[in-house]
Amino acid sequence: MTAQGERAAAAWRDTDFARDWARGDSFRDLLDFPRRMAAAIVAGDDPAPATIVDVGAGPGAVLEVFLRRFPGARGIWTDASCAMLDLAQEKLAPFGDRVEYRIADMTDLDGAGLPDAADVITTSRAAHHLDRTGLAGFYQAAARRLAPGGWLVNLDHIGPASQAGPPATAGLDDAWDKRLRAARKEFGVSPDGPKHHHNYPLTSVRDHLDAFAAAGITDVEVPWRAFYTCLFMGRTPA
Ligand SMILES: C[S@@+](CC[C@H](N)C(=O)[O-])C[C@H]1O[C@@H](n2cnc3c(N)ncnc32)[C@H](O)[C@@H]1O
Repeated sequence: MTAQGERAAAAWRDTDFARDWARGDSFRDLLDFPRRMAAAIVAGDDPAPATIVDVGAGPGAVLEVFLRRFPGARGIWTDASCAMLDLAQEKLAPFGDRVEYRIADMTDLDGAGLPDAADVITTSRAAHHLDRTGLAGFYQAAARRLAPGGWLVNLDHIGPASQAGPPATAGLDDAWDKRLRAARKEFGVSPDGPKHHHNYPLTSVRDHLDAFAAAGITDVEVPWRAFYTCLFMGRTPA
């Protein structure tokens, strides 16, 4: 496991921590919409993807949405945490042997034994544990594992560009940062919860778009955003 992967994974390996986080996940309801939206966008392009890999999948909420939407697909759940594996096996049990479970480090996807031509790779709220270089490396490794025309989907927390410093320029300035932080309190959504490693400053929208481009994925959009959480979707060249 890489040093960055180890730092990101450390807290999640604790069973009580993982269960507390999953129980108190303040984003549970909010994120159902972008998860289903991501699956619908993929479906419009590829109505029957065969292989869907979820990275840093945790309890498996994203994979669950995709497996429901695509009844012919098999899912590969991956995460660094055995505590999360237990939670995912409970949640994804209804899908039986359509799901394969792998303990894997998201910072070493090439060493994870994943298929080399997945139709869809999803990840959610995991890549914000990585710094800008780590994020670029992650997108590159994911792009290598996708079939031509495959989709890379990341539903992730971002930081305002003003925190990230140059050359990140797209995103929020300080005034918008303050507005969003204040308004977010009314909605009870915050990535805080039980303490775990976040890589500060969080990568910005611009960092994500740059990392997609560096991975050779230029057909990219941010089809959904709420406060500091964005759905990034990119399709590899066919
Ligand atoms: C905030 S949870 C998100 C879980 C799930 N993707 C979701 O959105 O509900 C972050 C997940 O990233 C996983 N994670 C942290 N570091 C990792 C690493 N180096 N490799 C793979 N997974 C990792 C954690 O175990 C945890 O399940």
